[in-house]
Amino acid sequence: MSGTLSPIDKAKFVAAKRAVDYVEDGMKVGLGTGSTAAWMVKCLGERIRDDGLRITGVATSTRTAELAQKVGVPVVSLDEAKWLDLTIDGADEYDHNLNLIKGGGGALLMEKIVATASDELIVIADLSKQVEALGAFPLPVEVIPFGWQTTKALVEETLVNLDVLGRTSALRMNGATPYVTDEGNFILDLHLKRIGNPRQLALVMNQIPGVVENGLFIDICDVVVIGHGDGSVEVR
Ligand code: 5RP
Repeated sequence: MSGTLSPIDKAKFVAAKRAVDYVEDGMKVGLGTGSTAAWMVKCLGERIRDDGLRITGVATSTRTAELAQKVGVPVVSLDEAKWLDLTIDGADEYDHNLNLIKGGGGALLMEKIVATASDELIVIADLSKQVEALGAFPLPVEVIPFGWQTTKALVEETLVNLDVLGRTSALRMNGATPYVTDEGNFILDLHLKRIGNPRQLALVMNQIPGVVENGLFIDICDVVVIGHGDGSVEVR
């Protein structure tokens, strides 16, 4: 499956492949979203086909659900599965406490719901996602379309009150129109540079009317599997 891959794709592939080793027969597994998670879904499909692995998947986006169907991973809704043994997902940044920024692919809301409904969250990543402090990657915040400009102003005012370094936010676009999430919402990308207190920011953001969820995953991730371009893997 891996063929001739660029070092970055090789890193993503080996991380995904190693994480799939954690999946056991009969498990209910949350399926993340993004290019690294796509490798994981393909590796799961391979184990189902070649080893007879029996699992039930819950997808965190329509993209992932479509891929799962294509590669033979059975998918049910979260309400059918109720609780999951394990979720495997990518991340945009992880720090030394295994706190994360997620949502670069726009699926943060379903990703956070699914990860929170799991006994364990395993993040798969290449080393470029590792940071000293979260925040160089713009923090995605999912907002209701109604009154989004007012919500944006409230978000920016909150950043000033919290004394966060960067304070600008931008509506995520898809060409000339706003990017719309699977749940029908918009995304504000917050350019913060460095987040001094991610726990506080995560809590405060979700108090703002119009904000549905933010991309800070605090105390949710249990393990990070880091792939390298030479094919080696580290587990933290
Ligand atoms: C999607 C996500 C992704 O997991 C994150 O953006 C990482 O994606 P990739 O593996 O393509 O770098 O949070 O909402």
